[in-house]
Amino acid sequence: MSNIQPGILAPIPPLARCLSFQLLPDGEPLAALANLAERRLGDDLVIGIGQPLALALGSEIPGLRGFTALCGPGLSVPSTQAALWCWLRGIDRGELLHAGRALEADLEAGFGIEQVIDTFVFAGGRDLSGYEDGTENPTGADALAAGILSDACPGLAGSSFVAVQQWLHDFEAFEDIPLAERDDLIGRRQTDNAELDDAPSSAHVKRTAQESFAPSAFLLRRSMPWADEDGEGLLFVAFGRSLDAYDALLLRMTGAEDGVVDGLFQFTRPITGAFYWCPPLRDGRLDLRAIGA
Ligand code: HEM
Repeated sequence: MSNIQPGILAPIPPLARCLSFQLLPDGEPLAALANLAERRLGDDLVIGIGQPLALALGSEIPGLRGFTALCGPGLSVPSTQAALWCWLRGIDRGELLHAGRALEADLEAGFGIEQVIDTFVFAGGRDLSGYEDGTENPTGADALAAGILSDACPGLAGSSFVAVQQWLHDFEAFEDIPLAERDDLIGRRQTDNAELDDAPSSAHVKRTAQESFAPSAFLLRRSMPWADEDGEGLLFVAFGRSLDAYDALLLRMTGAEDGVVDGLFQFTRPITGAFYWCPPLRDGRLDLRAIGA
């Protein structure tokens, strides 16, 4: 399909800059979106529309909802739903900074910046804990099936949904855990990425085994580490043809099904959470007819 935002299916870039925006009171979101829709989108930018924006424009995207906060035993998952999400992808931090400034200028009639996070690749694709991330990601036709809404009407076909969640690691806690026990938190060996058959049911890959859900819960994960003056961790980014797979995975991680909490929570916790709909393209530009823009 040629109407998919190319950055969704492209591999993780060396660097990225994630900007989220809120609607300005008395702003003119349609004028700002018209600027955005003039851009020809390559794989250097992915755009997502949040439920607050869809509602402000009086439209409804089937399957789009705001991120819902939830609690589990000893943990809480916050919602920080914004109106618009821009994922800039590149290789040069200065260029990303200037691309972000240009986006802010294009959007200033309707949107104010809410959060900016710079992300990077660590050790060829590992989380900062040292574990390889993305091993069980679907590829090729399976990636399309997992990540892209294909059987839908024009204006929706070729679109995708994305879950964006910033996780803050606690390295003091992590480093107090012996190496073998760390492997049990993930369910894979840090040294060679081998899956551990005898990992406990709390192991992250046991909790999230995509084919163990009914229906299966495959996602196209594109997470990258972040680090700034507030700490460090993983910016979890995952595309799906709907938001259902993410919801099912997160519920099981938080112990909602059986009271067993994902081992990840022993050293990391989510500090943001938002869902967006990533529109399809028409002639290489954003096709915003589904939100009347
Ligand atoms: C700090 C947060 C997280 C870290 C460090 C992390 C790390 C990892 C690692 C190391 C793996 C094993 C390799 C792989 O297949 O990618 C993995 C697998 C996976 N993770 Fe996460 N993850 C995090 C959050 C999440 C969240 C929030 C979800 C979904 C709600 C999720 C869903 C998955 C899935 C679906 C798999 C593949 C499971 C399988 O089918 O084998 N992860 N993650």
